[in-house]
Amino acid sequence: MSKLLAVLGATGLQGSGVVNYVRRDPELSKQWKVRAITRNVDSDKAKALREKAEVVKGNATDRAALAKALEGVHTLFAMTTPVFGVDDPLEAEFQVIKTIADVAVEQGIQYLIFSTLPSCRDVSNGKYTGVAPFDAKAKGKEYIETLPIKSSFYCPGSFMKTLPLRPCLLHDRIPTKVIHGFSPAT
Ligand SMILES: NC(=O)c1ccc[n+]([C@@H]2O[C@H](COP(=O)([O-])OP(=O)(O)OC[C@H]3O[C@@H](n4cnc5c(N)ncnc54)[C@H](OP(=O)(O)O)[C@@H]3O)[C@@H](O)[C@H]2O)c1
Repeated sequence: MSKLLAVLGATGLQGSGVVNYVRRDPELSKQWKVRAITRNVDSDKAKALREKAEVVKGNATDRAALAKALEGVHTLFAMTTPVFGVDDPLEAEFQVIKTIADVAVEQGIQYLIFSTLPSCRDVSNGKYTGVAPFDAKAKGKEYIETLPIKSSFYCPGSFMKTLPLRPCLLHDRIPTKVIHGFSPAT
């Protein structure tokens, strides 16, 4: 019988990459059923997912809704987005990660794959302290590692699909014409 893989962010870049990879792989698609979790099951992206996955409503900031969305799940792929407009964006995103991880444990999920990033604060020996999306995900990884759940961590470079949004990184603006650290397209 196939196992259930839940994907947070399935309507976005990373999560859709996970859904598509599993669906396209002959072996994985036999072994796993995919549940896409979205805050809005009626969005165009969510509707487009219906032919690839079970699409269910869930919100990483709403514990009860997330618990319901994760019922019966074997493995969870989790990602988070930065939190803007708050006094402490690091703590705000970390609390979302903590909620996801705590609910995963409570729901008896066996395996949690979390999309993390390195801590800029640590890598720079404390020089750069304001890179909340990185530091929050690093803190989230550390927290998950303390929990009674099997876990793995994916640490992406910059997404190729977002490269056009950053013209300063396009090759004709870089003297060496070499760009390191980009993930394959999702
Ligand atoms: N861009 C890069 O080069 C890069 C590189 C490394 C890491 N990152 C990190 O990647 C993250 C963004 O990932 P992405 O580009 O895959 O995202 P994205 O395409 O912007 O999509 C965001 C996804 O998050 C879901 N989401 C947002 N808030 C949610 C909530 N409260 N509960 C449940 N789902 C929620 C959205 O689902 P619905 O709207 O359907 O609910 C959507 O699927 C950021 O944290 C960034 O730091 C980015």
